Amino acid sequence: MEKWRLTYRLLKHSSNFDRRLTSGHRYLFGRTFIPFKENFRTLECPSRSYVNGASVSFARVNGNSYAVQHRYLASVASTTQRNPDFSKITSDDISYFKKILGERGVVQDEEKLADANTDWMRKHKGSSKLMLQPRITEEVSQILKYCNSRCLAVVPQGGNTGLVGGSVPVFDEVIINVGSMNNILSFDKVSGILVCEAGCILENLISFLDNQGFIMPLDLGAKGSCQIGGNVSTNAGGLRLIRYGSLHGSVLGLEAVLANGTVLDMLGTLRKDNTGYDLKHLFIGSEGSLGIVTKVSILTPPMLSSVNLAFLACEDYASCQKLLLEAKRKLGEILSAFEFLDVNALNVVLKHLDGLRDPLPSSVHNFYVLIETTGSMESHDKEKLEAFLLQSMNSGIITDGVLAQDINQTSSFWRIREGIPEALMKAGAVYKYDLSVPPEKMYELVEEMRARLGSAANVVAYGHLGDGNLHLNISAPQYTDGLLSKIEPFVYEWTSKHRGSISAEHGLGLMKADKIHYSKSPETVLLMAAIKKLLDPNRILNPYKVLPPSILSQS
Ligand code: FAD
Ligand code: MLT
Ligand code: ZN
Repeated sequence: MEKWRLTYRLLKHSSNFDRRLTSGHRYLFGRTFIPFKENFRTLECPSRSYVNGASVSFARVNGNSYAVQHRYLASVASTTQRNPDFSKITSDDISYFKKILGERGVVQDEEKLADANTDWMRKHKGSSKLMLQPRITEEVSQILKYCNSRCLAVVPQGGNTGLVGGSVPVFDEVIINVGSMNNILSFDKVSGILVCEAGCILENLISFLDNQGFIMPLDLGAKGSCQIGGNVSTNAGGLRLIRYGSLHGSVLGLEAVLANGTVLDMLGTLRKDNTGYDLKHLFIGSEGSLGIVTKVSILTPPMLSSVNLAFLACEDYASCQKLLLEAKRKLGEILSAFEFLDVNALNVVLKHLDGLRDPLPSSVHNFYVLIETTGSMESHDKEKLEAFLLQSMNSGIITDGVLAQDINQTSSFWRIREGIPEALMKAGAVYKYDLSVPPEKMYELVEEMRARLGSAANVVAYGHLGDGNLHLNISAPQYTDGLLSKIEPFVYEWTSKHRGSISAEHGLGLMKADKIHYSKSPETVLLMAAIKKLLDPNRILNPYKVLPPSILSQS
């Protein structure tokens, strides 16, 4: 109890605590606003050299040079054949697209295409020669109708922040980016229902709602670049799912365009509508394989005035679980985030991201947990949280902790958690796994993985513990087939054995299309293939992704 109080007091009076961390960041409703595009750009590479399908490039960030590892599709491409049924783009096709979109909407510029062909992880690189940028639904419809008739394969792309290679072409597919469809169409202050186009960037929606006194029901580290259409298509989870649930609950309606150009108007704004099958759910999480999402209607919660954030230390994983249970019981309705990271994750962030400091520097801890509360009465919420923290300290569940005292501290705590993916990219090669695992088993996998890999790699764990979602990341100096063979299929077999999911929130994309059977029964996969065939008989939409191509060619 004394220790908790000490830390609390210490920070309360520490005027210099990380002041410089937040320059350039904007605090909004308890979250860090990172100009994500800028971070994204710093990961780009001016020059590349290729060695056995991998390339290494060097980029300069804030005066420090670091190496960025790249591994392109050497292994996947060698096992994935370009579907010979697909046509190749001709000059007639280009003329047609220019006729409907104008010069501006038809991108052939090599530099822009290089970005659009490469994913955020720098692991997947396609060779598309064409990106189309429609501005209205009718244009999307005309594009798809034409591509379907010509059997031209397409990749729907949003902010290109996906982590499973779903947003970039595998071969020469046409990229369709709806980023120019970025209008907010309506907002109802009484119901909190927002209707917008699919290309709206998540951060812009958050800012818009902030002015209206509302928030988005989802928040994630990629908010500065990802689009709501991409979020819906991946059924993104993020940091608020524990409080506001998944997009299957908050998305009320959608407009989507099918492969043959048919526009499906499912853009309802009703909380309740039981008239037959709720088809919008097919498009939530289907990763662009069934249609292009063009509009979204989403239920947004009102902004509440009292937000608190604690950064806590636990000595073992069992304590993290106990803390979760207690937080649910004692904080109840005000709990709005419960995130965890292990000491390896914290160290990667502190080493690779500028201007961050350990919030609990007096000793090294094995686990860290961020707990956020959001409520409507400051005094009540603070009292509840402080009582909970003191109890947790007294019972030994937490061994140290700080409660953010101002916007700067709040921002820096969130920056530590949200910055982990970026820090890992800077650290070298990353093997990234996104698993749903029963929380009590979650860390066993991490420990087993460490035992398997020994000193060959740094096994880093973090994630949305409150949702049973582990982000298992294996960081190594470079990608090697030897290391990969020690990780896979072990990681998938282990997850399957414990009835987990091999994709909690990132999707299957290209990376895990042929791994779906670890989480879904053969009958379920066959039904999915039949639905795909019904909606996209020529399989032009995001080919080679989500479902194993072999199953699609059979069905
Ligand atoms: P893209 O990456 O462009 O596309 C993703 C998939 O959706 C692709 O298959 C693409 O074909 C399809 N798609 C995109 N737009 C459309 C559309 N309009 N219609 C049909 N299909 C479309 N994910 C989480 O769930 N939780 C997190 O906390 C989280 N944090 C992240 C943090 C970082 C730093 C990064 C880089 C990524 C993170 N992600 C997270 C992963 C990612 O899924 C999300 O960033 C986001 O939902 C992807 O949106 P996007 O617009 O970038 O889509
Ligand atoms: C996160 O929670 O930080 C994201 O899902 C990204 C990641 O897993 O690296
Ligand atoms: Zn996540």
